[in-house]
Amino acid sequence: MAAFSKTPIHISIFLLSLCILSLSSLSWSSSTGSNLERQNDDYEKWVSWNVENHKKKTRTTWETNQGMVTAGHRKRSSRSLVDSKLRKAELRRVRMCVSQDGNCDFTSIREAIDAIPLNNTKRVILDIKPGLYREKIVVPLAKPFITFMGDSQNPPTITGNDTASTIGDDGRALTTFHSATVAINSDYFVAMNVIFENTVPHVTGTLGEQAVALRISGNKAAFYNCTFYGYQDTLYDHKGLHYFKNCFIQGSVDFIFGYGRSLYETCYLNSIATKVASMTAQKRTNTSLSSGFSFKDSTVTGSGLLYLGRAWGDRSRVIFSYTFMDKVVLSQGWNDWGDQNRERSVYYGEYKCSGPGANATGRVQWARLLSDHEAKPFIRTHYIDGDAWIPSQLPQ
Ligand SMILES: *[C@@H]1O[C@H](CO)[C@@H](O)[C@H](O)[C@H]1NC(C)=O
Ligand SMILES: *[C@@H]1O[C@H](CO)[C@@H](O)[C@H](O)[C@H]1NC(C)=O
Ligand SMILES: *[C@@H]1O[C@H](CO)[C@@H](O)[C@H](O)[C@H]1NC(C)=O
Ligand SMILES: *[C@@H]1O[C@H](CO)[C@@H](O)[C@H](O)[C@H]1NC(C)=O
Ligand SMILES: *[C@@H]1O[C@H](CO)[C@@H](O)[C@H](O)[C@H]1NC(C)=O
Repeated sequence: MAAFSKTPIHISIFLLSLCILSLSSLSWSSSTGSNLERQNDDYEKWVSWNVENHKKKTRTTWETNQGMVTAGHRKRSSRSLVDSKLRKAELRRVRMCVSQDGNCDFTSIREAIDAIPLNNTKRVILDIKPGLYREKIVVPLAKPFITFMGDSQNPPTITGNDTASTIGDDGRALTTFHSATVAINSDYFVAMNVIFENTVPHVTGTLGEQAVALRISGNKAAFYNCTFYGYQDTLYDHKGLHYFKNCFIQGSVDFIFGYGRSLYETCYLNSIATKVASMTAQKRTNTSLSSGFSFKDSTVTGSGLLYLGRAWGDRSRVIFSYTFMDKVVLSQGWNDWGDQNRERSVYYGEYKCSGPGANATGRVQWARLLSDHEAKPFIRTHYIDGDAWIPSQLPQ
């Protein structure tokens, strides 16, 4: 959390405050400062902020068909329609709370998830009270629409220490996939103000130390004000449409990896590598996969020498826009993972970045500074079909 406070104040927070001002006549005037009330307030603020955002975005149509195709994703004529399954779920919200002191519905997050029925159709908001939760959590595919909501002043930490080589119950090594402290297999997951952690350090040159803090494999997931602490392979952005907003992500090697189609906005990416490492390992393997990572208005900093990414897949795709890059970024910017063929097929770009590490992308021929036209598809929530599914962007 200390680290999160280093995050620069962003435009979004400004917008959020504007929104709070303009909507202050609504529910939270009665707040007396208890945790539950504050959390409810946080949630309402978050919802109203997103509703405003949604309205703003639907007022500005900017993208062209051609632009969307460049991003490997055809424009949908129904873009303005919200996701109806999601809308139904949001209309029927259920709240449950988790607290280790026994003053709540559940004492562990796992118990709370166990209590949610299979094929759940309601938005289930778990108010998770402050505390250090030593839990290994797998949210099953059949439990969509779950929200983990922490307290913004004192977020809960969910921690673990499994690695790829930890021996599981079946006597075999877990593998990277199952090393995650928290794994989300279901769709429409949301987390706000939660710290996800894997505490196992990585020693350069040793194998089997991949230690995932969070794996997100479900579609249409959103993370707001979340923190991810780990070393090697911190955030497994496995697959699906994902939105990360105001998140702090820390690790040493490949600490954001997978083949999700994800937008990271106003995030703070912190390397704790001691030598040379790559920050992202994006695994798009063919042109028909609509997958890629887009980082916007973010900050890249930390220790060691950092490649922005290395090409895990032939068609690996990563874009940084309006991002501050500290001097940790290596002058050659990107790494082909030892396969020169990949230099011809990856899509790596930078757009209007700043700082001493910016524009490294222009120095290798196979990664480019993007034109306005090329950057467009990646720099709005349209990249992840944002307007259609980001839960809180539903008209109320
Ligand atoms: C996110 O964090 C910022 C800064 O700590 C805080 O001002 C804001 O209220 C938080 N947002 C939510 C939705 O909790
Ligand atoms: C959940 O949905 C699946 C697929 O539709 C169905 O096979 C299963 O029986 C359902 N389970 C419950 C508990 O409703
Ligand atoms: C991992 O955490 C558990 C408790 O959550 C602890 O008992 C164990 O010693 C830890 N293992 C290592 C290697 O730190
Ligand atoms: C692209 O990759 C996906 C996922 O691995 C696979 O299902 C699909 O068949 C591949 N398409 C082509 C054209 O290779
Ligand atoms: C990076 O390149 C862009 C466009 O070529 C330029 O406007 C910008 O000033 C450069 N930034 C730095 C930090 O070199």
